[in-house]
Amino acid sequence: MALDKPYANIPGTRIFDAERSRQGYQLNMFCMSLMKAENRERFLADQRSYLDEWPLSEDQKQAVMALDLNRCMDLGGNIYFLAKVGATHGLSFQQMAGSMTGLTEQEYRDMMIAGGRSPVGVRLRDVKDAPPPAPPSPTHARITASVYSSHVPAVGAAIDHGKTEEPYWKPMFAGYDFSKQWMKENTPDVIFLVYNDHATAFDLSLIPTFTIGTAAEFKPADEGYGPRPVPVVKGDPVFASHIAQSVIQEDFDLTICNDMQVDHGLTVPMSLMFGEPDEWPCKVIPFAVNVVQYPVPSGRRCFQLGQAIRRAVESYDEPLNVQIWGTGGMSHQLQGPRAGLVNREWDNAWLDQLIADPAATAQVPHIEYVDEAGSEGIELVMWLIGRGAMSDVAGGPPPTVAHRFYHVPASNTGVGHLILENQ
Ligand code: DHB
Ligand code: FE
Repeated sequence: MALDKPYANIPGTRIFDAERSRQGYQLNMFCMSLMKAENRERFLADQRSYLDEWPLSEDQKQAVMALDLNRCMDLGGNIYFLAKVGATHGLSFQQMAGSMTGLTEQEYRDMMIAGGRSPVGVRLRDVKDAPPPAPPSPTHARITASVYSSHVPAVGAAIDHGKTEEPYWKPMFAGYDFSKQWMKENTPDVIFLVYNDHATAFDLSLIPTFTIGTAAEFKPADEGYGPRPVPVVKGDPVFASHIAQSVIQEDFDLTICNDMQVDHGLTVPMSLMFGEPDEWPCKVIPFAVNVVQYPVPSGRRCFQLGQAIRRAVESYDEPLNVQIWGTGGMSHQLQGPRAGLVNREWDNAWLDQLIADPAATAQVPHIEYVDEAGSEGIELVMWLIGRGAMSDVAGGPPPTVAHRFYHVPASNTGVGHLILENQ
C-alpha cells in the first residue's frame, strides 16, 4: 500500500514533500545561492547567464525569469526558498503571496485588511471530486535478512593494502568467507545500512540522532588517510523518502540528508561482505545514528525504530528484496587508560540474547554497554535497529542463524558478526 498523502487534494495548495523536494532540489539550491549579496548582484545583472550556471530545466529557468511563483512551485520550488528570488527583486512576502492568487497587489492587500481569505469553499470538505483511494497493491518490499558486523577502520586498511593474508588478519577475514559466498547467493535489491558517522559527515555544528540518506549517491569520505578506494555507494532516493515519510509519521524524528559522505562505519562492512568489486552490486540506504555525543538513543528506542522501519518497508509497493544491516561494536574502548578493553564473555552473552530474546536486549541500559563493553561499545545499540526489523518481533517465526562469528583482536575491538534470515 502506498503512503497516504491526505494533503494532496487541498484546493490551491502544494505541500512540499520529498517528491517535490527531489524535483526541485537544484531550483531550491539556486534560490539559496541568492543568500549572498554578490550572487544577487550577478543574478540581477544577467538572469539568464546566472541561471545557466545551474542544472535547471528550461521550464524552471523560464518560471524564475517570469517570477511566476506558482509555476516555480509546480516545478518543485518551495516558498521559503523562492522567497530569496522575491527578496532579490525587493518584494515583500505579501507581494509574493498575492502574486500567486490572481488578484492585483491592491486587491490582495485589501482582502487581508478585510480579515483574510475565507476558508469557506477552499477546504477538503469542499472538494467534490476527490480521487478514490488507490487499491492495495498485490506486491510489496520485504526484509529477507539482517546482517550485523563490526566496522573497524583498520580492517578497511588491511583490505585496501593487500594485508588480508597476513597472520594477524587471516583468522579475522576467514570469519567472513561464508558471508561473501552467502552475499553472492542472497544479493538484495537494497540494503538499509545502519551505521554511525565518526566525526566525518557531521561535526559538532549538527548532531542529528537518526539520519536517513535520501541522495542518489554517497561518496566515500576522506577521514584523514584519504578516501578509501571503494566504489561510490548508490542510494535509492524514492524508497528512502518513502521510509522517511512512513517512519516520521510514526513519530520517529529522522533527519533527512540529501548530501553526505560515508565513512568506515558504512564502507568497511560493505567490503567485508562484498570483497572488492568495481561497483557495489546493490543500492544502499545509509542510516546514521549518533553514538558520538551523549545523549545517544537507547537500545529500546532503536529496537522500536527497527519495527517501524519494517512496517515502512512492507508498505512500499515494489517487490524489493531488502536487507537491514547493523554495524559497529562489539566491545571496544578507544580512549583513556582503560583503552583496549575487550569483554569476550559479555559480547557473546549479548549475541546469544540478541538472537533469542531481542526484546530483553533492548532493555540493556547505556551504562551497561559502556561499563562492560567499553566506551565505544555503545555502537552496539545500532544492531537493535536491524534486530527490531525482523519478522519474529512482529509475531512471525524466529529467524534462522545463517552465520555467527566472533574474533579478538582487530585493532582495538572484539569483532562480532551475525547473519539472520527471515523464514
Ligand atoms: C576502531 C573501531 C571502531 O569501531 C572505530 O570506529 C574506530 C576504531 C578500532 O578498533 O581501532
Ligand atoms: Fe566505530
